Amino acid sequence: MSTPAIKSMNLYSEVDRIHNDLAALGIGSNDPLTVDVLSQFDQFHYFGTDAVDEAIAEAGIGAKSRVLDIGSGLGGPARYLAERTGCRVTAIELQSDLNALAESLTERCGLSAKVKHVQADVLTHQIEPQSYDAVVSWLCFYHIADHQTLLSQVYKALKPGGRLYVEDLFRHDEFDDAELAHLTQMLYGQYLPYRDAYSAGVREAGFAEIDFGDRTDTWRPYVAERVAAWAARRGELVAVHGEAIVDSLAAFYHSVCLLFESGKLGGVRLLATKP
Ligand SMILES: C[S@@+](CC[C@H](N)C(=O)[O-])C[C@H]1O[C@@H](n2cnc3c(N)ncnc32)[C@H](O)[C@@H]1O
Repeated sequence: MSTPAIKSMNLYSEVDRIHNDLAALGIGSNDPLTVDVLSQFDQFHYFGTDAVDEAIAEAGIGAKSRVLDIGSGLGGPARYLAERTGCRVTAIELQSDLNALAESLTERCGLSAKVKHVQADVLTHQIEPQSYDAVVSWLCFYHIADHQTLLSQVYKALKPGGRLYVEDLFRHDEFDDAELAHLTQMLYGQYLPYRDAYSAGVREAGFAEIDFGDRTDTWRPYVAERVAAWAARRGELVAVHGEAIVDSLAAFYHSVCLLFESGKLGGVRLLATKP
């Protein structure tokens, strides 16, 4: 089978490396796990579980909520949501290796009754209509070119009054050719509209109470510090993962940083409600 195009993003290679992180803490590959320990390694977005706490507050997620997490990665946000609030989560993930690993980590956390993992493309997945109180998504929407279908799937999934919480990337200015190469290869960017076009798409999909929160000024220093911290810890990290993994992730972190530093890449926390 050919390698999916999204694997041009180094973050999605060698995803089993999380076992190296856990082994360095003395945790074997079948040992039980806790969300607290795992959450240092399984949040593939900015500001880790603080960002998930923000979603809990902004989307009003509680013990009775049903939540759909789109592009759930290794399942970090989904497990944290379920553990902190008691909600039930359906976690949709496109990549089969990430999804299988997510499922096994959830089981080892004892959360399989609360978090259901589904390997699917959100664009074509048969979503149960009007069945979710909240839809959440971190750094997935910019991977998906067809935002119209994406937003109609989200709209369909939500109950009336349901909340959408999305963290995503958008465009502040036109990229040059070198930046575009980083964006399309290393970040696998497929859809990066300007702010007005982004909000208009959400409005046209039927959403109300749209709040486009520009997070660029907090995400830019975060990604710069990540590059510096990764370099400072290189020796320790190579001992855990080996050079190839450490250098591959360093290249990914560098590309993200370069694009934010260009002033052309933006970060958004978008909130909206289905009327
Ligand atoms: C940057 S990762 C973030 C993972 C997770 N949300 C987190 O914050 O830890 C984005 C994820 O979206 C997934 N994704 C991209 N396109 C998708 C699609 N069409 N359907 C479902 N998942 C998708 C990717 O495979 C990737 O795992």
